[in-house]
Amino acid sequence: MTGRQGRGRYVWRVDIPGIDPTRIPTHVACVMDGNGRWAQRRGLKRTDGHAAGEEALFDTVEGALELGIRWLTVYAFSTENWRRPTDEVRFLMNFNESLLVRRRDELHDRGVRMRFIGRRDWRVPRRLIRRMDESIELTRHNRTMTLTIAFNYGGRAELIDGIKRMIDDGVPSSKVTEKLVHQYLYDPEMPDPDLMVRTSGEYRISNYLLWELAYSELVFTDVLWPDFRRQHLFDAVREYQIRARRFGGIDTDA
Ligand code: IPE
Ligand code: IPE
Ligand code: MG
Repeated sequence: MTGRQGRGRYVWRVDIPGIDPTRIPTHVACVMDGNGRWAQRRGLKRTDGHAAGEEALFDTVEGALELGIRWLTVYAFSTENWRRPTDEVRFLMNFNESLLVRRRDELHDRGVRMRFIGRRDWRVPRRLIRRMDESIELTRHNRTMTLTIAFNYGGRAELIDGIKRMIDDGVPSSKVTEKLVHQYLYDPEMPDPDLMVRTSGEYRISNYLLWELAYSELVFTDVLWPDFRRQHLFDAVREYQIRARRFGGIDTDA
């Protein structure tokens, strides 16, 4: 299967007030949190909150395309989320599978390349893994933006999996460098996030991209994920643009 080749070589970028188009973060990572609380506040089931998160995700994707963001990574299911009630876990598996089926053509038309990071262990339904592989295959030639879905993802699991593979490959300790560790992450092509946005007023990382977030700017908002829209992403990018990234050095223009 070759799929349709290389969608989206055209540029979507739109001028957004208050945003410097020359300093757009290359990679934005989102922790899509607060679905359960959003639903509970409305007297709905937690799973209704997850369903409502779909619109938030696709509006965010549109906003990221307008900005010209090249990499967008979203946390959809963590290695710790298996602790949730069976019904909620089952809903999330089915929901994510159907979401891929319903939305992949639209993403493909937008020139979005889809990738997944996380453990493909026995707990992830085979059907969902098939949908993931189909989505990767369909969109692999696209270059406008890479949407990475972190599913059954944990930052510690990613490091453990990388260390195991390094040992299996017989890598001597003298060869272990930051660059090599990066090569052993789930997606070695993925650049480190410049900006991490977490919704729902929680100020933590929750095992997301532990290695990759080392020098990312962190922006937290009280907005619950189902209410998140591209305007909130624009706000986060405005906040990012007023931060001074020093990477351990000192400001050169100070
Ligand atoms: C985030 O929303 C979605 C997943 C973790 C799958 P939550 O389900 O964590 O919502 P809250 O944090 O309980 O409100
Ligand atoms: C992080 O949210 C994981 C995802 C958004 C998929 P959680 O709701 O699972 O994180 P905690 O439990 O509040 O730390
Ligand atoms: Mg949560």
